Amino acid sequence: MNIPARIFVREGKLIIELPLTNPTGKIRVKRRDETSNYGIPIATRTQALTKDDYVEWQISYATQNPPDESKVEDIVINNNQIGFELTKLLYESIKLGIFSSDDVRELDEFINNVQSTETLEENEKIFRENNLHQIKGGFKRFIEKVPVYIKKNEEIGHFVEIILRHKQRAVGLQAMVYLCIYVEKIKDRDGNSLIGRTANHREFGSFEINLKNKEIIKDVVKAFAIASWQHKNDITNILEQIKRKCKL
Ligand code: ADE
Repeated sequence: MNIPARIFVREGKLIIELPLTNPTGKIRVKRRDETSNYGIPIATRTQALTKDDYVEWQISYATQNPPDESKVEDIVINNNQIGFELTKLLYESIKLGIFSSDDVRELDEFINNVQSTETLEENEKIFRENNLHQIKGGFKRFIEKVPVYIKKNEEIGHFVEIILRHKQRAVGLQAMVYLCIYVEKIKDRDGNSLIGRTANHREFGSFEINLKNKEIIKDVVKAFAIASWQHKNDITNILEQIKRKCKL
C-alpha cells in the first residue's frame, strides 16, 4: 500500500502533508540505529515518536498516473509522464515567490555543470571485497560495499540520501533519492509537536516550505541532477517548462 503525500497552498503557504502510518509505502517513519547507522522503520501506532525519528520520503517528480494530491497536470515530460511532488514543490515555490529568479538560476547552473563523468548511476560501482575469512562448509566471507551519498542540514532538520542498488530487471545501477525530514520539524493538524506520542489512525504530519527552508527543495533537485543522466535531463526539462509558465 502507498499513501501519497499531499502538497497544496493554503493562505499563501506551501504545505506538505506526509502520512505517518504507512510503513510499506514510499513515505515511512524511521529511527537511526546507533550502531549500524541505518534507519529502521518504526511502528508509529504503538511506539511514541522521539527526536531521533525522521520521515523518509522516496520523492518523485513525474509519473504516468500521479495522485491528485500533488500533481501539476500541464507539466509533461517524455510524452506521458505528468509532473507531481518535486515538480509541484518547485512550481508553487516559484509562484509564491519563495523561489526567486536567482534561486532558479542557481539550480540551472548547477544542473548544467553536471558532467557525464559525474552522474552516479553511470559512474558508481557496487563491489564485493574478499574478507579473507572462511567459515565452515567452505564458505568465504565477502563484504559488499555500496556507496551512499548523504547531504545533511542540521539547521533545517533534513537530509537527502542517494542510495545505489542493482536494477531489478536490467543491467546497471539505479540511484534512489530520499528526502528525510526530522519528526521534530513536523507538526500535527493542530500545529503541535508529534514528539512523545504515537501516531493516530491514518494521521498525517504537516510541514511548511518557506523562505527559511527552501534549501530542502534545492537539495532534492541537486540530488536528482547528479543521480543519473536521465534524471538530470528530466529535471532540466521540468525547470524549463516551469520557467516558461511562470514567465521567468
Ligand atoms: N524515480 C521516482 N522516484 C525516484 C526516487 N526517489 N529516486 C530515484 N528514482 C526515482
